[in-house]
Amino acid sequence: MRVLFVCLGNICRSPTAEAVFRHKANLAGLDVFIDSAGTGGWHRGELPDSRARETGEARGYSFAGQTARPIEAEDFEDFDLILAMDQKNHEELLNRSPKHSQQKVRLFLSYGDTSIREVPDPYYGGPQGFEKVLDLIENASDGLIKTLY
Ligand code: 4NP
Repeated sequence: MRVLFVCLGNICRSPTAEAVFRHKANLAGLDVFIDSAGTGGWHRGELPDSRARETGEARGYSFAGQTARPIEAEDFEDFDLILAMDQKNHEELLNRSPKHSQQKVRLFLSYGDTSIREVPDPYYGGPQGFEKVLDLIENASDGLIKTLY
């Protein structure tokens, strides 16, 4: 199973999802390949945002080895699940996906057990935004793991 998390910049939300889901999948003993990407390429090659890293590391997640990259055409072939952090990125992914891969493209929070469907972009906000991102991502990661057993 290969899972790709996607947000806009690939420096805040999707790197956090990658770190959280890798940790939880390891604990669950699942054999999954996990990566993340952005629909935008402005931050290519950058480390995850320091605020995202600090908030995530404080909860025990590792961002080791992560650098930002934009999504590429091959990703729609290589991954089994392509999970968007919000509606806008979901629509962008569906627009870019070949027809045969569109069923792989989902809203990540559809795996959560709350009524919230989007991970809000924390980039221009304060530290509580990064805590909220983690809460939502932890919740949806637990739900996704249940579907992969
Ligand atoms: P992300 O957050 O999509 O969660 O990585 C953002 C990072 C950068 C920008 C927007 C959102 N930006 O406009 O540069």
